[in-house]
Amino acid sequence: MKFFIDTANLDQIKEANELGILDGVTTNPSLMAKEGIKGPANAIKHYKAICKLVNGDISAEVIATDLKGMIAEGEHLAKIDEKIVVKVPMIKDGLKAIKYFNSVGIKTNCTLVFSTGQALLAAKAGATYVSPFIGRLDDISYDGIQLIAEMVQMFAVQGFETQVLAASIRNPVHIVKCAQVGAHVITSPLEPILALLKHPLTDIGLEKFLADHKKVNS
Ligand code: E4P
Repeated sequence: MKFFIDTANLDQIKEANELGILDGVTTNPSLMAKEGIKGPANAIKHYKAICKLVNGDISAEVIATDLKGMIAEGEHLAKIDEKIVVKVPMIKDGLKAIKYFNSVGIKTNCTLVFSTGQALLAAKAGATYVSPFIGRLDDISYDGIQLIAEMVQMFAVQGFETQVLAASIRNPVHIVKCAQVGAHVITSPLEPILALLKHPLTDIGLEKFLADHKKVNS
């Protein structure tokens, strides 16, 4: 399973990258706004900075919601760097845009996916990634992990190359469960990734080892 970080914060991207486990980055308009990035020129500059930091796929989302607009924007984004994956919303024109981008060799990430039916359409259109938002589903009492399992199984049965990119991750358990049900990729904020590292017995054990080592060497 690939690990992407779900942020536009350069320090956090750098920190995750230094762990040696990072395979890519996903951004969205809310995450870009959180970093105070204003205007298309600054957005491009920021995507370039992310591309310099990470060796992997970097999702950049289109703002247009009509086919012509999405194609123009996506082509512009794709020219920034070959790592750019154009993120397109799961709407009718989005599906047509994914089909077009696939035909010209531009990678896509179909976002705002909440059902297996939506995932099926995105895969048929040739999306590189499909992003089901598991945290937002859990928030409204649907089982996000179950949805990931269903999508992974459906893509395997159908032989689709589209990868299930579990998004809207809220905690480390989400990440582990995604791995258990075969998600191809997770995208997570830094905190749940760092939380995977932690166990109180590791800290207690290390403290004891260091104390005993001190005794032996004093
Ligand atoms: C990623 O591609 C999504 O935009 C993101 O994971 C959404 O996460 P949220 O539900 O925490 O906003």
